[in-house]
Amino acid sequence: MPRSERDKFQSDQVSIAEIYKQYFDIGTAVSIRGLTNETEPILRMHFNSITCENEMKPAEIHPKENVYRFERADSIVNYAIRTGKKIRGHCLVWHEQVPQWFFEDEGKPASKSLLLKRMKEHITTVVSHYKGLVYCWDVINEAVDDDSTRLYRPTLWYQIAGEEFIEKAFEYAHEADPDALLFYNDYNSERPEKRERIYTLLKNLKEKNVPIHGVGLQGHWSIYEPSKKNLEDAIQRFASLGLIIHITELDISLYPWEKMPRKMFPGENDSLTAELEQRFNEQYLMVFEQFLKYRDVIKSVTFWGISDKYSWLNNYPVLHRRNYPLLFDRQMKPKAVFYQLLELPGRSE
Ligand code: GLA
Repeated sequence: MPRSERDKFQSDQVSIAEIYKQYFDIGTAVSIRGLTNETEPILRMHFNSITCENEMKPAEIHPKENVYRFERADSIVNYAIRTGKKIRGHCLVWHEQVPQWFFEDEGKPASKSLLLKRMKEHITTVVSHYKGLVYCWDVINEAVDDDSTRLYRPTLWYQIAGEEFIEKAFEYAHEADPDALLFYNDYNSERPEKRERIYTLLKNLKEKNVPIHGVGLQGHWSIYEPSKKNLEDAIQRFASLGLIIHITELDISLYPWEKMPRKMFPGENDSLTAELEQRFNEQYLMVFEQFLKYRDVIKSVTFWGISDKYSWLNNYPVLHRRNYPLLFDRQMKPKAVFYQLLELPGRSE
């Protein structure tokens, strides 16, 4: 980009959400501290959609059977309303960050009917609380297993209630807010093998007329994946079911995908080299080119954070390994790729 144009962007006049507004929303995950720390001016200016990073999850919002704690999520929702941003609801049913009480009954495992009753109460209360404010919900998060020999992840939800918990969750959410768009959300959805299992799940739901409107591709990607082909194939495959697509948790790691938490290996290097940065830029540009190409079905792109300083990937899955996955660096400066993304829509018109 010529220096004069770069200066124009740096003068803080150009919002990335504004540039992409005619195509899709540009959102970010926000934590409660993000409302007051140094990311807030960036949030205010550059994003038109907000997802609570943790504050709407069952562990936060529903810690005990008869106790709801809405305050923290409400603060984020109120901020979004004050600043004119949309709110994506995240997430109603997941096997992580869910309190154990859901699954127990006086020290024994809860029965299927008790678990479904609790799930219904949870979904109805939370969705009703945010009715008219939260326009879409990640209803089910990550129900498909990483093990390719199984479709469903063997979570307590699944072990107690069977696959039915998935369709019931969508039905309860739809009853509570018939206007909300309802999503199934998962990761590694572009890997062909997992993609096909997610497709099978979604197809079953559609065939049963379950009220599902979209699929969330989390987008916890890296400089190694997805390939352009795998990304396009996934978008086309899911769109063929008549579902809309949201990219819900975008970040691009410098490291190959891993899931098991570990410490850094002796000698493991976590510095950003020029070559890695180049690959990082290319990967961001490639995925955004595809988002623009498929803008008829992709309606929202949410980053999982604003600045590298606060990214979860600095500690996950490798403790204290620095990562550089977002658009703003540790000093809150937009990265080179940020400016390239601002120019992209003009180039692909
Ligand atoms: C999953 C969840 C998110 C978040 C990330 C890790 O992708 O959907 O809510 O917890 O893991 O930060």
